[in-house]
Amino acid sequence: MFLTAALVVCILPFLVMATPLRADNAISIPIRKRNLLTRTDNTFNHDQAIRQKVQVLNKYRTNLINIRRNTGRLPVNVTTIPPLANLTRFLLGKRQRTPLVDLNDDSEWGGNITIGTGIDSKVFLVDFDTGSADLWVPSSSCQNCGNKTAYDPSQSSTSVSQNATFNITYGDGSSASGSVYTDIVAVGTVTVSNQTFAAVTTESPEFVNDPAGGILGLGFPAISNLHSDPFLINAFNQMSNLQKVFGLKLAKTASELYIGGTNGSAFTGDIENNTLSSADGFWQLGGATALVDGVAKVSEFQTVIDSGTTIMYGPPDHVGQIYAAVPGAQVFDETNGLWSYPCATPPTIAFQWLANQWSISAENLNLGETALGSGQCVGALAGQDLGLGSDVWLLGDSFLKNVYSVFSVGEPGSSPKIGFATLA
Ligand SMILES: *[C@@H]1O[C@H](CO)[C@@H](O)[C@H](O)[C@H]1NC(C)=O
Ligand SMILES: *[C@@H]1O[C@H](CO)[C@@H](O)[C@H](O)[C@H]1NC(C)=O
Ligand SMILES: *[C@@H]1O[C@H](CO)[C@@H](O)[C@H](O)[C@H]1NC(C)=O
Ligand SMILES: *[C@@H]1O[C@H](CO)[C@@H](O)[C@H](O)[C@H]1NC(C)=O
Ligand SMILES: *[C@@H]1O[C@H](CO)[C@@H](O)[C@H](O)[C@H]1NC(C)=O
Ligand SMILES: *[C@@H]1O[C@H](CO)[C@@H](O)[C@H](O)[C@H]1NC(C)=O
Ligand SMILES: *[C@@H]1O[C@H](CO)[C@@H](O)[C@H](O)[C@H]1NC(C)=O
Ligand SMILES: *[C@@H]1O[C@H](CO)[C@@H](O)[C@H](O)[C@H]1NC(C)=O
Ligand SMILES: *[C@@H]1O[C@H](CO)[C@@H](O)[C@H](O)[C@H]1NC(C)=O
Repeated sequence: MFLTAALVVCILPFLVMATPLRADNAISIPIRKRNLLTRTDNTFNHDQAIRQKVQVLNKYRTNLINIRRNTGRLPVNVTTIPPLANLTRFLLGKRQRTPLVDLNDDSEWGGNITIGTGIDSKVFLVDFDTGSADLWVPSSSCQNCGNKTAYDPSQSSTSVSQNATFNITYGDGSSASGSVYTDIVAVGTVTVSNQTFAAVTTESPEFVNDPAGGILGLGFPAISNLHSDPFLINAFNQMSNLQKVFGLKLAKTASELYIGGTNGSAFTGDIENNTLSSADGFWQLGGATALVDGVAKVSEFQTVIDSGTTIMYGPPDHVGQIYAAVPGAQVFDETNGLWSYPCATPPTIAFQWLANQWSISAENLNLGETALGSGQCVGALAGQDLGLGSDVWLLGDSFLKNVYSVFSVGEPGSSPKIGFATLA
């Protein structure tokens, strides 16, 4: 709620010249990301893309439910909570059939955090997610959480049971549920005491094959399912000498979450900062324009910046306008809003909020060939109504991999903002 007050008074974008921020107490956490949507033979993994879409839809459905519960209202332009997205229906609705291949690639994904103290502490691999606000990890009493580090409250002397449970239902009918604890949580040297988190005792099958053992949400308290302050908010409150900023680099090599500042070696030039357009709990920027090969095609829309989502989604009519400007583009799967374009002549799709155009590289746009040798590649921008309003896009890793991104929670008196800079 304090965010609401802080934000509505200052919604004008601003841009101030400054040099990269350096803070001696800032920390860098190496992270790894994988693109599960492209198979090793460079074809598109259609079923996996539909699964992820259903997860995204239900993630935002849960976010809306949390916002309504935490703030007593829905975001601007949202009138209803959408129904659960049904995986079976979307899989049946897809036009093409591709065999389901589980990559089962156990390479790392996410970054390490520790929970507990001293010899009682354990290392968890988590996905850093700007599109949610809770921390959850597998519980030692989970039967179906796969082979991952698990939290055992009896092994941590600093663990405090909050005598609460949580339960999230997914579109495939499965649910994740568990108990709520507080304990000491550390990301590098950034250590928070009394961090509320969920230890999951029943996990959705969606997560079982995901090497990440949990999620650390970097969003705002309004979207918290546990109705408690997210890790970063606690970190910035408890470590007053830490700059209330984190930088994210999602790239092929040296990906990192940098807490307490920005890594000046990871980007060049200035960081173009833009004040958030909404205080609903998301990292959301307004006034966006989408361009194809340098020509503006859709303007004045909202964008939610989500590191926990793989690709980019826009309202189906907006996305149709984008692909209409791409020679050779075709609808690939109408039900699921997927389009293809000629692999040999990829368009340059870019987003613009202020002065700069931030382009998606050909590599980051390409989710793989529709079929081996087809010459058509599936684009990492799909049409999908997310239930967040008719002009809201969701920009995931396919966008974030092209930029250095800087998320500023804001010192008292200044508004939260997101900045983008050119990767070094
Ligand atoms: C943008 O914000 C970041 C983080 O607060 C700051 O380090 C940077 O200097 C700002 N950029 C400009 C151009 O003011
Ligand atoms: C709400 O909808 C109006 C009309 O479409 C639009 O101008 C405005 O940007 C939207 N606001 C948000 C926060 O989505
Ligand atoms: C999902 O859709 C399928 C096919 O339309 C239907 O059989 C099934 O009952 C639905 N499941 C849920 C949980 O709504
Ligand atoms: C996480 O920690 C484990 C050891 O506990 C290490 O093997 C792994 O490389 C670390 N992963 C990352 C992404 O830092
Ligand atoms: C579980 O993980 C441990 C440590 O990473 C490894 O040694 C073991 O082989 C794994 N077991 C299975 C069944 O994957
Ligand atoms: C949880 O319940 C136990 C047993 O009733 C109690 O000792 C403990 O104080 C409770 N924890 C909290 C955070 O209320
Ligand atoms: C969670 O919710 C689902 C659906 O409402 C229900 O089937 C399940 O029993 C619940 N689990 C727990 C642990 O409350
Ligand atoms: C953590 O919680 C305990 C017990 O509720 C309290 O004594 C302590 O001051 C809290 N620590 C912080 C840093 O908030
Ligand atoms: C900063 O970024 C550079 C370039 O990506 C990298 O080599 C370095 O390890 C990063 N981390 C820190 C703490 O400087």
